[in-house]
Amino acid sequence: MDRIRITGGQQLNGTIPISGAKNAALPLMIASLLTPDTITLKNVPNLADVSLLIRILRNHGVDTAVDGKRANGNGHQGDTLHLTARDIVDTTAPYDMVRRMRASFWVLGPLLAREHQARVSLPGGCAIGTRPVDLHLTGLQALGAEISLDGGYVVAKAPGGLRGGVVSFPKVSVGATHNVMMAATMAKGETVLENAACEPEVADVASCLNKMGAKIDGAGTHTITIQGVEELEGATHTVLPDRIETGTYAMAVGAAGGEVLLEGARADLLPSVLEVLRQAGLEVAETNRGLRVARNGAGLSAVNVTTEPFPGFPTDLQAQLMALMCRADGVSQIRETIFENRFMHVQELARLGADITVSGDMAKVRGVAALRGAEVMATDLRASVSLVIAGLMAEGETVVNRVYHLDRGFERLEEKLGSCGARIERLSS
Ligand code: UD1
Repeated sequence: MDRIRITGGQQLNGTIPISGAKNAALPLMIASLLTPDTITLKNVPNLADVSLLIRILRNHGVDTAVDGKRANGNGHQGDTLHLTARDIVDTTAPYDMVRRMRASFWVLGPLLAREHQARVSLPGGCAIGTRPVDLHLTGLQALGAEISLDGGYVVAKAPGGLRGGVVSFPKVSVGATHNVMMAATMAKGETVLENAACEPEVADVASCLNKMGAKIDGAGTHTITIQGVEELEGATHTVLPDRIETGTYAMAVGAAGGEVLLEGARADLLPSVLEVLRQAGLEVAETNRGLRVARNGAGLSAVNVTTEPFPGFPTDLQAQLMALMCRADGVSQIRETIFENRFMHVQELARLGADITVSGDMAKVRGVAALRGAEVMATDLRASVSLVIAGLMAEGETVVNRVYHLDRGFERLEEKLGSCGARIERLSS
């Protein structure tokens, strides 16, 4: 297993290209199941989760091709991916694949819409909590799907096809919104999704689906209306920039000091995060090439943050913010309301000398004068990058173990940070 070694104390200066959003690329790839024509996705990040989803989609009969790289000088342009599901050859998504990437559960809606049946493994638990799928299932049932559970699998059928309906989600769920929205594109009649997730990735997927011929209104708000169509066709779509990667590198600059242009980043994708970072003492400026983030000389101030669905502060940046606050002046309060078990980085940050106490869903972070490098272990995707951020500001050497979590969601992390002056290297086993 690879490890990452960081020698702290170096400022970051330069440019970091922001990749396409993982959390949009995955559902966009899954949307290819809805049409026999080719979906071309540009700016797809080169990540382990993307490669795994390619394998999963191939299993259903999707042909995939990735364009070769050309030297075009656009460092932040990701891969171009062509996906063609001419025929669905298998409507089963096996346990061995779904357990490794929860988002692959979202094939359920598209398979039901197109093939009127699907058998998809329940994803099981994961490091950050129980993560149920009840909202996906009740949403699809509202569109007429008959659902039963059999041997750890969701068996769904819609003889004669799905029909439109009203789905009022009792809780905001990104995944359930993607799943049911994709299913509804080819249901008969009108579907209304109330209390839908309004994350920018949902709007991005809806915009691609509309290019494919779907009739979706209101994506990006809490009410999405979908008029079902008979069939969908091919389209070309560029994945929006990754707001979580943007926030992560902004916090890395906050941790290390210096000034970095986050190339291709968009401020409108993370309004609450930028507000929090400004409160913490970072300078953030919008430019026509992206966001310029700086912390020159000034110390960090403590902040109080609660994670919330968009446009609130995202749970996917909670661990990174906590790492940053370890060195802030004063006591920060960070409340996690989305996932129940998302403080596993706390014990690892403590190994570097952080002073954090957790009570229920609240973490109190008392800023300390210095962190000291140590060996730590990544527990999940976002937790792992929080340890990298802590390592950037710790004295001496920090070694992060189990970095395969990082590779799931951060493209060329060592290269991006290293090119701005961080002393960071991958130790291959
Ligand atoms: C997506 C993101 C993930 C992010 C999360 C919250 C992707 C690939 N993943 O995950 O990075 O952290 O949104 O922004 O886009 N819930 C239920 N029943 C359900 C579904 C969800 O109770 O059927 C609960 C979850 O346990 C959680 C909350 O709803 O407490 C939000 O989860 P959800 O938005 O569904 O997260 P994901 O879509 O899995």
